[in-house]
Amino acid sequence: MAHKIGVIGGDGIGPEVITEGLRVLRAAGAEFETVDYDLGGQRYVRDGVILDDETIEEWRNLDALYLGAVGSPDVPPGVIERGLLLKMRFALDLYVNHRPFTAPDGSHEFIVVRENTEGTYAGEGGLLRAGTPHEIATQGSVNTRMGCERAIRYAFELAMKRRKHLTLVHKTNVLTFSGDLWNRTFEEVATEYPEVETAYNHVDAACIYFVEDAQRYDVIVTDNLFGDILTDLGGAVSGGVGLASSANLNPDGVSMFEPVHGSAPDIAGQGIANPLAAILSGAMMLEHLGEADLAARVSAAVESVAGGSGTTVELANKVIAAL
Ligand code: IPM
Ligand code: MN
Repeated sequence: MAHKIGVIGGDGIGPEVITEGLRVLRAAGAEFETVDYDLGGQRYVRDGVILDDETIEEWRNLDALYLGAVGSPDVPPGVIERGLLLKMRFALDLYVNHRPFTAPDGSHEFIVVRENTEGTYAGEGGLLRAGTPHEIATQGSVNTRMGCERAIRYAFELAMKRRKHLTLVHKTNVLTFSGDLWNRTFEEVATEYPEVETAYNHVDAACIYFVEDAQRYDVIVTDNLFGDILTDLGGAVSGGVGLASSANLNPDGVSMFEPVHGSAPDIAGQGIANPLAAILSGAMMLEHLGEADLAARVSAAVESVAGGSGTTVELANKVIAAL
């Protein structure tokens, strides 16, 4: 049966890479019934719509969402990020952001499990006495036992299916309140997975290891903001952000798949954007939809052409030829 997919091409290079992603997935044999959603910075500029509640309700009946990139230079920062991307993550409770990387030496793949609904992204805080010499800005980090526990559990389950090694990344030496909650939860859940070897790194040290010793990692679990920063670094050290894919998961609901890269307005419309991260995100979507064989074929095909050059369409053609 065809999978029912909501497609949000978005802004800039987003629609270009998503078109090629869908073409490759279909060439691999996947069957989709797609519903297009015109959302993003350009739509907002046109008629003020960011994301309404009816659309979110429609999404709950889909099998998955496939998103290119959103954001455009003529919209102030935060409007689309909070109003569309974060609203989607929160409303659909996409509590795990699953981001795989190839180690810099090419030796293995490791995965960052980023908590995706809490931390500094929750929106706690505000401005007081704005615009006066006494103005105050606070931006709290919201960490719930439930929120960190479900991300940590997902990471342990993932580790069990892999090399049985899991690293918690945080900053427990300074963020003593949230760090304590994360660390205690991690250690308690660990007792249920005695086969999984665990480790802990402060986030600053983890940045060094990402570059110099990624060999030590298999699965990493971390909070929302550390995960945001670390996964850009992960992309940069593992062949560039052009290959970085991600899954925003609600294991009990509808999940969303997107490349880590942004809308890249500087190269939009020229047909030169690298579609490989979008294609790999599509492969993760296939895996999530129960099409593990197709997913593996698409990933292997992307791997065989990675490092090559070409236009957006040429690269996708190369992947199709390698299927
Ligand atoms: C990402 C992006 C988003 C984030 C932005 C666009 C809100 O950087 O998916 O990593 O910070 O989560
Ligand atoms: Mn990011």
